[in-house]
This record gives sequence, C-alpha cells and structure tokens, in this order.
Amino acid sequence: MKKNFIFLTETESTNNYANRLLLSKAAEEGTVVLSQFQTKGKGQQGNYWESESGKNLLASYIFQPSWLKATDQFLLSKVVSVAITDLLAEENIDTRIKWPNDIYVENKKIAGILIENSITGMFLHASIAGIGLNLNQSVFVSDAPNPVSLKQVTGNDYQIETIAEQLWEKLKIRYNELKTGNPAVINSVYMNRLFRYGQWALYARQSEVFEARITGIGQFGQLQLEHSDGKITEHFFKEVEFVI
Ligand code: BTN
Repeated sequence: MKKNFIFLTETESTNNYANRLLLSKAAEEGTVVLSQFQTKGKGQQGNYWESESGKNLLASYIFQPSWLKATDQFLLSKVVSVAITDLLAEENIDTRIKWPNDIYVENKKIAGILIENSITGMFLHASIAGIGLNLNQSVFVSDAPNPVSLKQVTGNDYQIETIAEQLWEKLKIRYNELKTGNPAVINSVYMNRLFRYGQWALYARQSEVFEARITGIGQFGQLQLEHSDGKITEHFFKEVEFVI
C-alpha cells in the first residue's frame, strides 16, 4: 500500500473529497485526504462534526478491501477504532471504544469515526475511513455532549501531520492483520477495549432508562445487552444510548 497524503486548507468534508477521488478513479488504497478545516464536517447520523480550523486531525483514509465480504464490514470499523486506541496508547493515554466506534478517554469523546463503504456484489469495493481526532482544540462550542482533546488531557500541543502519519502506520498494521490473518485477533482486541464491557450501567431506549451490561457484539455490529432479569436483547446503532 503506497502512502499518498493530500493536504487541503479547506473542504466541505474530507470524506466527500475522498469519494470524489474514488469516483474519478484518481485514488488508490493508501490515499489519505487531510484538511485544516471542513465547512460541512460530517458526523454520524447526519450530525455536524465540530473542529476549529488547523487544530485537529480531520482525515479520510482510503482502503480497497475487495477481499472482505460485505456482511463482515463491521470488522473495518473495529480495525479503525482499534488503530486509534493503539496510537493513543503510545501517547500514554488509556482510551476505550464506545460502541460502535467512538473513542473515549474516561467519559469524554476524543475521536469520532465515519466509515463510508461501497459494495460490489458480495464484497466491499472501497472504504473511506473518516476520522476526526481532537488534538489541540481547547473550547468546543457545538452541542456535542462531551468532547475532549488530546491537549486537554496532556497539556501538550500536537502536530497534525505527525499524528496523521503515525495513525497511518497503526491502521496499516491492523488492516494487514485482518487481511492476512484471522478476524479473531481484531475481535478480541476490540472487545478488550470496549467501554463498559461486562459492567452494569444505565442505557436509554426512547424514554425508558434501564440497567444492563454488554455481553457481546454481533457480526453486523449489533450491541448485545443482558438485562437485570437475565434477558438478552440486540440493538443496532442509535436504538439505544449510553447514559453517561
Ligand atoms: C462521529 O459523529 O463521531 C463521526 C465523526 C467523523 C468526523 C470525521 S472528520 C474527517 C471525516 N470527514 C468528515 O466529514 N467526517 C469525518
């Protein structure tokens, strides 16, 4: 995989830019689009991703996992979240993956991931892994519930380009591990780093708040919860929320 970084000052969304490159066949695996600022940074579920200009990592890493079955695409989500936690562990920050793929330092969100896949037949064609990692921002103004930056945690300043390259190395390792090996490794690391795995905690569904604990994650990324009466339920993204 050849590394090819594209640095932009401003774009609507690095994911959209990466998508246009793919559509015009101008991108191959290893292309990474970075921008200082996004005018329409995309979060999950149509939310806006807040990031002050020049302060944080806003990057879209392009993969072409034509070897991965579409039904296994949640494995890519695991690869990306685990790679970010690998990187932050090197900075001595202990992070957890809040299902499905938010990266947390204690009870605060330090990074968000938006993966956009295209599929051909039964297999994946291209995957755009959009990553927003808060580095140097110290004030957050949007209504995102609990953002935090690396600088707020350590007091240090970070160089976006250096972090982007280090993350690329971590992504390559986890991606190749999945490509050439067996998914058991990524599955077990993901579970080991899962926020509140096995712990009784509060969750909300519509207006109901209940106590439950995570017992597993299904093949399609469904959250499996055990309730106080022993019943197990499965939930897709946004059907339940963590009470934090
Ligand atoms: C989330 O809501 O947690 C996902 C946030 C993903 C944000 C990143 S920033 C780089 C890339 N480009 C986008 O428009 N979104 C992702």
